[in-house]
Amino acid sequence: MTEPVPVVQKLDQAMASDDFAWSMVLVGEDQADKLATLTADLRGPFSSTGDGKRITSGFSYWGIAPTIAWANATNDPFYLVMKVGTESFLRHWRKLRPHVDNGGFHLVSLGVGTGVKDRTVLSDLRKHNRDMYYIPVDMSSEMLRMGTLEPVRGARFPMSQTLPVQLDFSIDDNIEKLAQMLTRLVGDEPILFTLTGNTLANFESDEELLGTLTQVLRPQDRLLLEVASTTRLDQETADAAADEYHQTRAFAEFVTSALRYNTDLKISNELVKFVGEVENDDALLVKILWQNDTGEEIRMELPDHTEVVLPVGDTIRLYTTRKYSTARLKRLTESCKLTPVEAIQSQFRYTRRPNPFGLELLLLAPEAAGEREHSLADDIWAT
Ligand SMILES: C[S@@+](CC[C@H](N)C(=O)[O-])C[C@H]1O[C@@H](n2cnc3c(N)ncnc32)[C@H](O)[C@@H]1O
Repeated sequence: MTEPVPVVQKLDQAMASDDFAWSMVLVGEDQADKLATLTADLRGPFSSTGDGKRITSGFSYWGIAPTIAWANATNDPFYLVMKVGTESFLRHWRKLRPHVDNGGFHLVSLGVGTGVKDRTVLSDLRKHNRDMYYIPVDMSSEMLRMGTLEPVRGARFPMSQTLPVQLDFSIDDNIEKLAQMLTRLVGDEPILFTLTGNTLANFESDEELLGTLTQVLRPQDRLLLEVASTTRLDQETADAAADEYHQTRAFAEFVTSALRYNTDLKISNELVKFVGEVENDDALLVKILWQNDTGEEIRMELPDHTEVVLPVGDTIRLYTTRKYSTARLKRLTESCKLTPVEAIQSQFRYTRRPNPFGLELLLLAPEAAGEREHSLADDIWAT
C-alpha cells in the first residue's frame, strides 16, 4: 500500500491552479497566549507617566483593524517621516546592495509592514539567486497577508518560494525555533535578515531585542537595520520628535486602534499625549499614551470580559519610539557584537530650517563573520 502524500506537498500546486486569493501563513505560537499577554499588560499598575498599563510593540499592529490603520498611516502624506523614509530607502539600499550581491542570500523580513521595502530588496536579491526563499515574519497574520501581496503579486515574486510566519520575534524561544526551522530549510546558505522602519525603536528594551535577534545570526548571515536618527539630544529636540508624530490624524488613528479593537474604551484624541524625553543621554524617547484627564474614574472592559478601573491621571502606553544618536547605535551594536559593514546616513530636508532628524541604514555582520570589516566599522562610528 502506498503512503498518503502530505498535504503541504500538494498545496502549492493546488493553490496555483485556483484563482481565489489564497495565502498561506505558518503560525508559530498560540494566539490565545498572545491575547492573555495583552490582557495582562492592560491590567498593569497605576502610572501617570505611561509606565504601568501598556500595549507593547507587536500588539499595536495585531489584528485587522490595527493593520488597516497602519496601512492608512503609511499612505498619509502628512506622515512625513514615513513618506520620506519609504522614498529614501530605495536610494540607500542601492548603496548597500553591492555587499550582498552575489552572496546567494535568502530574505527573512522581521516585521513586514506594507511590504514596500521587501519588494525592492527581493527583486534585487532574486537577480542573484532565482531559488531564494522569502520569509516574512510578523506577529500579525493580517499584516502578513497584506505585506506579502506587494512583492508576491505586485513584483511577481513566486508564492511557491514565500513562507509567511506568524510569530512574536521578541521572545528568545521563538527566535531560536525560527532559526532551527530556517536551517532545515536553507542549510548553510546565507540569510539576509531585515529589521526596517525603525521597528527596533518600538521595543521597551531595544538592546534586549537586538541581542535576541543577533543570537541567530551565523557568520554568513547579515542584518539590515533601519532606524530613525537625531543629531541633537536636548529637551527641545525631544519635544520636536514627539510633535512629529502628533501632526498626522492617520497616525493617531493607528496608535489608538489596538485599544479600540481590544477594549470597550471610548477614546477621544484629546486624551492622547505625545511625550518626548532624552533617554540615557544618547537617544530621544517618544512615549505615546492615553491619559484619563476627564476628572472621573473610568472603567474599561478587557478581552476576557473582566473590568479594570482607570483612576484620574492613570495612563495606558500606546506606543514607544525613539530617535537614535550615533553614540547609541555604536553602544547597541557593540553590546550585541555586531560589526557595521556599511552605513548610510541621511538628514531630513523637507523643512525650511536645518533639521536634526534623519534615517540610518546599517548593514551589520555578526562578530564571527571575520576581522575584515573592523577598520570599516571604525570609520563608520567615527562620523
Ligand atoms: C514599524 S513597522 C515596520 C514595517 C516595515 N518593515 C517597514 O520598514 O516599513 C513594524 C512591523 O513589525 C511588526 N512587529 C512589531 N513587533 C513585533 C513582534 N514583537 N513580533 C513580530 N512582529 C512584530 C509589526 O506588525 C509591523 O509589521
